[in-house]
Amino acid sequence: PDSARLTADGDVRVGGVPLTSAAERYGTPLYVLDEDQVRARARAYRAAFPDAGVHYAAKAFLCRALVRWLDEEDIGLDVCSAGELELAVAAGFPADRVLLHGNAKSPRDLASALRLGVGRVVLDGVGEITRLAALVPPGERQRVLVRVVPGISAGHHDKVRTGDEDQKFGLSLTDGSAQHAVARVLATPRLELTGLHCHIGSQIAEVKPYLAAQRRLLGLRARIAETYGVVLPEIDLGGGHAVAQRPGERGIDLTDLARRLRAELAESCRAAGLPEPRLLLEPGRALVARAGVAVYRVLAVKRTAHRVFVAVDGGMGDNPRPALYGAPCVPRLVGRVSTAAPHRVDLVGRHCEAGDVLAPAVPLPADIRPGDLVATPVAGAYQLSMASAYNLHGRPPLIATREGTPRLLIRREEPDDLWLRDLGG
Ligand code: LLP
Repeated sequence: PDSARLTADGDVRVGGVPLTSAAERYGTPLYVLDEDQVRARARAYRAAFPDAGVHYAAKAFLCRALVRWLDEEDIGLDVCSAGELELAVAAGFPADRVLLHGNAKSPRDLASALRLGVGRVVLDGVGEITRLAALVPPGERQRVLVRVVPGISAGHHDKVRTGDEDQKFGLSLTDGSAQHAVARVLATPRLELTGLHCHIGSQIAEVKPYLAAQRRLLGLRARIAETYGVVLPEIDLGGGHAVAQRPGERGIDLTDLARRLRAELAESCRAAGLPEPRLLLEPGRALVARAGVAVYRVLAVKRTAHRVFVAVDGGMGDNPRPALYGAPCVPRLVGRVSTAAPHRVDLVGRHCEAGDVLAPAVPLPADIRPGDLVATPVAGAYQLSMASAYNLHGRPPLIATREGTPRLLIRREEPDDLWLRDLGG
């Protein structure tokens, strides 16, 4: 990650903590999150978008300490379940700075949102309008946004592109369902429409798709103003901002994104004779990915006629991204300096399927051996939050590091934790 420091003995420090000593103390696999790095990213967003509402997408990774750091850095939250919302509120996060998402919100999600006083509910279907309104106490109004399909998709994999017509999220502009939902919400006294939302995909490095999506939302906003005389005060462009995942790669340029979005927003509103809306954003990955490192211990090295397998004590259970999306994972040896030439190996996990490959054909020193530590950077987003207990390997712990001090934030999931749910009958 940005803050990882290589030392002369081959160790890597994250937030000032050597990974070898962290692995010794907490065991492996281990996730390490650099607190200052998360705060620095939050401040970069606040600096680039001083007037916008920046809502961290909790699905990327969530724990109570993180929620408090983000609150202190003036970042809001985007949640997509009662579970995420309740954890955030339990950590002391103000519910009115939280947005609730979901294409299929359960009765529990909606009830929890209303009970805790969630700031905004992002409506993803027409059926949700009456369901939500029925839960709002008499005399009160719940703020909502309508999620629109902008017809623009981008991102690192088909599975995360969410802006085109043929996928499950949002309401279409082309078949009129977005317009219909807007009319319904405006006619529902217990709901207050504050704006329009879209989310086009994930790991997007270009600014252009965001400009195109913003144009779509502003177009609909102008038509709503014309038709109903209602000027919506917010537009939400979702998340998706890319980070560099490999050496030489570039993440999205926040300053450029901010400057061009602002310029077009101002121009478009001037042309329509409307006041400018407040911009909302929902970055997930971009706030945490590069602050995280996963640390594994090598358990086995196997040379076959076809390749060399280096097997570690984690795998698709804690990082499903390579198996799901072919996502990159760039391992490095930690804790000793090897003079052996690098050779190509397949970094695999310990789960019982051949697809449990963290990184195919990656260079690691030829003398890599059981007991060595391997770290994979850019591990802070969509790894632990998507982890499973497949094969009853419990999920890894997570520590935060800051100024040389580690703190255990999430303890290891032990076999006992997993067996407890099995009632044995
Ligand atoms: N807002 C909404 C409505 C979303 O659905 C998402 C992500 C975000 C914001 C945040 O997107 P981000 O800034 O993190 O790209 N598991 C996949 C990514 C799935 C993203 C789902 N939605 C991966 O590991 O690449």
